[in-house]
Amino acid sequence: MPQARIAGIGMYVPEQVVSNQDLTNYMDTSDEWIQERTGIRERRYAHRTQETTTTMGVQAARQAIERAGTTAEEIDFIIFATLSPDYYFPGCGVLLQRAMNMREIGALDIRNQCSGFIYALSVGDQFIRSGMYRNILIVGSEKHSFGLDFSTRGRNISVIFGDGAGAVVLQPAPEDGSGILSTHLHSDGGSAELLAMYNPGTHANHWADQNYASFDEAEIGNMFMSHQMIDEAQNFPYMDGQSVFKKAVVKFPEVIMEALQKNNLSPTDIGVLIPHQANLRISQFVQQKLQLRDDQVYNNIQQYGNTTAASVPIALCEAWEKGMIRQGDLVCLAAFGSGFTWGSALVRW
Ligand code: UT7
Repeated sequence: MPQARIAGIGMYVPEQVVSNQDLTNYMDTSDEWIQERTGIRERRYAHRTQETTTTMGVQAARQAIERAGTTAEEIDFIIFATLSPDYYFPGCGVLLQRAMNMREIGALDIRNQCSGFIYALSVGDQFIRSGMYRNILIVGSEKHSFGLDFSTRGRNISVIFGDGAGAVVLQPAPEDGSGILSTHLHSDGGSAELLAMYNPGTHANHWADQNYASFDEAEIGNMFMSHQMIDEAQNFPYMDGQSVFKKAVVKFPEVIMEALQKNNLSPTDIGVLIPHQANLRISQFVQQKLQLRDDQVYNNIQQYGNTTAASVPIALCEAWEKGMIRQGDLVCLAAFGSGFTWGSALVRW
């Protein structure tokens, strides 16, 4: 069965540019600190009320579909990756299906945070290889700005994240060696709480020191989201940045080497590496570890911050638009993040 190829790619970032200096209006931080630790200079924030994760995904999808030379009616499966959905449920996949007037096709939502796009690509590739679908739309989109703690309390996280969307259309590759060569997915839930948004959720960790039996019905209803939880900022993401950093710099090179070895290739064969844009220092570490030249790695975290599930397709789209990816080039995609989950994909363009 043929593997999948990326037939079209698109991206969308909101108009509003938010500089590091802008963030100093809300929290105790500085342009110097943010640039030194992360490389980020600015990020985009979606319009507060008029843009959502789905609407941004639709914009990126339209461009990817057009560039694939197809139409929304021709798409026969949707995979939508995000950690910042419009609704707790249903997922963004069906909202995109509705917004784009698509047929009553399947819509799958993926919750793998920073590696969501790699997971989605892998799932899409399997559906193409099995012959089940011929035109799959994959979208990674995030509206982080709606749920970050912009006080000094949340500064280690809030300065990193930005909004945006990326999308690709997968189709069967011609049998000329092009397309997705392999994908590699991993997880380690042992550190799940090191980068997480706990609430609203069913875990009840915050009630652990209290006696459940004594709750009446009204109090149990409050377990979803209580005033106390909001006062304690438990509704915002939590990150132990240093632990995440330390694990990321090990797992990125590992999963890239796994993909290369599976295909009897080496780092020198990479045309462009598109690492998930978590932190420029992580990307630089990975580049150094694999001894890649500057022109072999594409980073754009400086302009957009970390857009989680959207970061790989946005960076891939920009690199392609800049002419950095030509037919026959070997493109390596890799991501690591919350879960922990991580993964890689090798694509012969
Ligand atoms: O894509 C998802 C995966 N996420 C990642 O890959 C993130 C990986 N981790 C990181 O990128 C880094 O850990 C951060 C950039 C998040 C933080 O950098 P760090 O060098 O690990 O800083 P830290 O958290 O150890 O904090 C160092 C100091 C602390 O102050 P004290 O205790 O030394 O006085 C923080 O309070 O920096 C302070 N700090 C800040 N200062 C100014 C934390 N955030 C900020 C801030 N501005 N935004």
